Amino acid sequence: MSEILHPQSNSPSPFLDQIENAEKYRNYEAEARPCVQELYRLNHASQTLDFVLSKKAEYGRLDKAEMSIWEAMDYLTNLVDDSDPDIDLPQIDHALQTAEAIRMDGHPRWFQLAGFIHDLGKVLCMFDEPQWAVVGDTYPVGCAFSDRIVYHELFQANPDYSHPVYSTPNGIYDAHCGLDNVHISWGHDEYLYLVTRDYLPREAQWMIRYHSCYPVHREGAYTHLLSDGDAELLKWVRAFNPYDLYSKSEVRPDINELKPYYEDLVAEFFPEKLKW
Ligand SMILES: [Fe+2]
Ligand SMILES: [Fe+2]
Repeated sequence: MSEILHPQSNSPSPFLDQIENAEKYRNYEAEARPCVQELYRLNHASQTLDFVLSKKAEYGRLDKAEMSIWEAMDYLTNLVDDSDPDIDLPQIDHALQTAEAIRMDGHPRWFQLAGFIHDLGKVLCMFDEPQWAVVGDTYPVGCAFSDRIVYHELFQANPDYSHPVYSTPNGIYDAHCGLDNVHISWGHDEYLYLVTRDYLPREAQWMIRYHSCYPVHREGAYTHLLSDGDAELLKWVRAFNPYDLYSKSEVRPDINELKPYYEDLVAEFFPEKLKW
């Protein structure tokens, strides 16, 4: 397993210390479910800069619904993510497993909250968005697709692949413009960021906004677009990642036992209803 960056590296990390067999996760080549490749075929052919800009404009208005974090969580209880090669598990279980692992390692409450809610943007499926526009790894658009993106060969079907500007390394961006100025393929990360950004510290915003952006936070691609300050924030995205990835287990958390704790946590940061 590659090194895990850990902002509280002086503290004991019971969860991270117990991680074993990490290589068995995110294995797209061995036994990935057939729907995983089909999802990426559609995703890579369809996520153009124009598509991303139109979705950001549409959902950025936050006029689709008013609902609480818990109402969103209830919806997700029945959703299984087609892009995840690792496990068929209800999303509420994944939310609690991620947050409980973060809590076990003694991280601050905003970090636990980020873990609990990080996938709530998948309520996009509620608004009839197809899974290829909701889940899966994300990546910059408006500039050349990196060959470090999963299934990168499938981008040949994307109109931007041969666009005179969007196919260049910098594309529409200035070098080192900063990740927050780069348009990222549309999905649950960006959507939940838009919904929750006013209520969370910047580190949590970045965990939510970029947790699926593996080409940047894991593969080290697109460094020519990153600004000086991005490195520090990406450390937090990387610190979050093992909890998202390695807490997945078929042992179901006890929702009734844990719910009071997470009700308090949600109420500490969010109003009763949020605009979605
Ligand atoms: Fe996610
Ligand atoms: Fe997740």
